[in-house]
Amino acid sequence: MQQRVVFLGTGGTIAGQAQSSEDNVSYQAAQIEVGQLLEAIPGLKGQLRGAILHSEQVFQRNSKDLDPSHWQQLQGRVVHYLSQADVQAIVITHGTDTAEETAYFLARTVPAALLRLKPVVLTCAMRPATSAQSDGPQNMVDALCVATSLGAHGVLLVCSATVHSALRVQKVHPYRLDAFDSGEAGPVGVVEEGQLRLFGAWPELLETVVHHALSPLASPKRDWPRVEIVTSHAGANGAVVRAMCAQPSASESPLRGIVIAGTGNGDIHHDLEQALHDAQSKGVRVIRTSRCATGSVVLAQPNNTEPPLLEASPLSAVKARIALMLELLEA
Ligand code: SIN
Repeated sequence: MQQRVVFLGTGGTIAGQAQSSEDNVSYQAAQIEVGQLLEAIPGLKGQLRGAILHSEQVFQRNSKDLDPSHWQQLQGRVVHYLSQADVQAIVITHGTDTAEETAYFLARTVPAALLRLKPVVLTCAMRPATSAQSDGPQNMVDALCVATSLGAHGVLLVCSATVHSALRVQKVHPYRLDAFDSGEAGPVGVVEEGQLRLFGAWPELLETVVHHALSPLASPKRDWPRVEIVTSHAGANGAVVRAMCAQPSASESPLRGIVIAGTGNGDIHHDLEQALHDAQSKGVRVIRTSRCATGSVVLAQPNNTEPPLLEASPLSAVKARIALMLELLEA
């Protein structure tokens, strides 16, 4: 059976258009369909290794404007295609701004039985498709190289010839082409002249969530559990948390959780911390993370004389938020 590689378009700078080919900053993201992007890359077919291409535009958005219903819509298409015997791999073109969130969501919600056998590779660009020095075409070729490499599986992100895992990847630069980093763990590998060089084993699969809302037949949920992110800093206080916990208006959902991006080892300004304890005592889940760019919160040994600590997560704040939303969805 001839194998297919499916490209799913979702928008981003990789599909962006500017007035001039010299303009890499003031452009409109999410303008060009993924099928058109593919047609404009002459070297792409060389990476197909006998497979044929199929493409679908799932949505067309600047990724800063995505919400959980988009993640869910994309997850539905990913599950649909990965379930087909002739689909070997999926490549998703996506905006860089929230690609790490979509990657983590997919890694937690696409059934492990599918991800164990086939890869889902997100790719993106820092310059629009109309740029004279656009990075999108090479990123798409590299993503295809990874997607068709022997043993590839799980959710990965390829940018600037570097392969990252969904768990570790984080956008760390607003402008540089090599805008992503995998922190202390480092990347999974690199693509060199159309060849993948892995630095170790493929990343382990994450624990996946099974919920009827995540079945491919479910229509996108409008009422995902509301979880907000709050940052602690010098001069932080509890006003924002108290406002969040106030009775919601008719059009808002009630607050279910707060992820706090704490200073250093997940530390919290004492005024803010008091408001978080109050929120927790009213049933709002509170999770501490660190606002540091690398590393994770290190837990202290339990001490019976201290008041109970707020729960901590080793994830970045944006990924801890998704993890908590999924946990609350199941509750
Ligand atoms: C976006 O995230 O959709 C726009 C920015 C980018 O792709 O770099």
